[in-house]
Amino acid sequence: MGQLSVCVVGSGYVGLVTGTCLAELGHHVVCVDSDAKKLASLKAGKVPIYEPGLPELFKKNVKAGRLRFAPSVKDGMEGKGWRAQLVFIAVGTPPRPDGSADLSAVEKVAEEVARNLKDYTILIDKSTVPVETGEWVAKTVSRINKKHVPCDVVSNPEFLSEGSAVQDFLKPDRIVLGVSSARAEKVMRELYAKVEAPVLVTDVKSAELIKHASNSFLATKISYINAVASLCEKVGADVAQVAHGMGLDRRIGPMFLRAGIGFGGFCFPKDLEAFHWIAKQKGFDFHLLKAVKEINEQQKAWVIRRIEENLWNLEGKTVALLGLAFKPHTDDLRFAPAVDIVRMLHERRVRIRATDPVAMARAKASSELKGVVFCKDAYACAKGADALVLVTEWPQYKDLDFKRVSKLMRNPLVLDGRNLYDPQKLRRLGFTYRGVGRP
Ligand SMILES: NC(=O)c1ccc[n+]([C@@H]2O[C@H](COP(=O)([O-])OP(=O)(O)OC[C@H]3O[C@@H](n4cnc5c(N)ncnc54)[C@H](O)[C@@H]3O)[C@@H](O)[C@H]2O)c1
Repeated sequence: MGQLSVCVVGSGYVGLVTGTCLAELGHHVVCVDSDAKKLASLKAGKVPIYEPGLPELFKKNVKAGRLRFAPSVKDGMEGKGWRAQLVFIAVGTPPRPDGSADLSAVEKVAEEVARNLKDYTILIDKSTVPVETGEWVAKTVSRINKKHVPCDVVSNPEFLSEGSAVQDFLKPDRIVLGVSSARAEKVMRELYAKVEAPVLVTDVKSAELIKHASNSFLATKISYINAVASLCEKVGADVAQVAHGMGLDRRIGPMFLRAGIGFGGFCFPKDLEAFHWIAKQKGFDFHLLKAVKEINEQQKAWVIRRIEENLWNLEGKTVALLGLAFKPHTDDLRFAPAVDIVRMLHERRVRIRATDPVAMARAKASSELKGVVFCKDAYACAKGADALVLVTEWPQYKDLDFKRVSKLMRNPLVLDGRNLYDPQKLRRLGFTYRGVGRP
């Protein structure tokens, strides 16, 4: 089995996990990042993100000499006696105001790679991109690659979830390879030879679409159950029971059927928008995706509606938020529902207290969370609050001592944005309890 030389450009949540896991599979990897602070941290042996299991693999592979770091694509592609056979693009593809994906970082990397081509190289897009990006990347390379050094562009979308990224990478449900040559397919299969997972080989465009279509489908499932939850609230039914009953049908399955205050993160919201945008560009109005987004926006406003229902005027009242990260087991705050909730509460001049087990450093540095009082734990957060909102279902918040919480709060109102708690238990303790889609 071959040991390949790999350069991964962009060392964020995806790039660093990709680079570290490929090193763990035995390949020689150089991770590149243009952020000097991030690079300094990596070179100092520190993983700059919270991702369970990553620091251990990172240290092991750095020590083994299989994982190194470089400040530029040029340095990442070539060093002493070393040349990358494969270059991954794992840079960010953030949303533009019109919903389209900003692919300028992808283009920049493609240009840099083209300038440094010397021998056959496979340029792999791992960032989430709209269909036809592979064609643009190939055109960009051709424009600069005047010597016609052979280069194949591959789409290898990443399906990892933050919080379980290492496991997801090493034990994925499938590996998708969008290729345009048998030569590239052979090397890509070799790269992943040690990973036990079905390998699906497609054309480049289909691979790009698999990623957008998958994320948008999962987002649709979440909004669907949230819409059902809204109906449950109107008629006094319990969405947890409805979802359970639906999920027992193997054609539906139980996953992504948990009602709550909506999805967030760096993937679902922007991928949904970008998928809608590219479909429109191509002349197809994928309006289902618009509804998915609208339902998700309404879910985030659920917190505000419920607080207003219970507390009347909000100005000067205190709301405590448990959890800030967009989901448990990550420190990622990008497009987190908590950020929108804070904005809506600020608009109503509410005093906000908040806590999170791992995202506090990022939260304190975030301009979007200015004015929030950060507390060391759930109890400190509950102190003097008129409402306690569970935003992120961290396991730490599951078994709180609610008798203690009740004594700390000014008004015993719990809004369970993730349906984590037992409504009867909280009501017995004297709380006014509201869950999403629960009686
Ligand atoms: N985060 C996830 O859970 C996830 C999962 C699957 C796919 N994706 C996709 O993967 C891509 C990366 O996401 P992420 O969460 O890792 O983003 P990220 O912001 O954590 O990482 C991107 C990194 O690229 C670096 N970078 C930007 N331009 C560069 C350049 N020209 N040269 C070198 N480095 C550069 C940035 O400094 C940053 O460290 C996105 O397209 C995203 O949609 C993300």
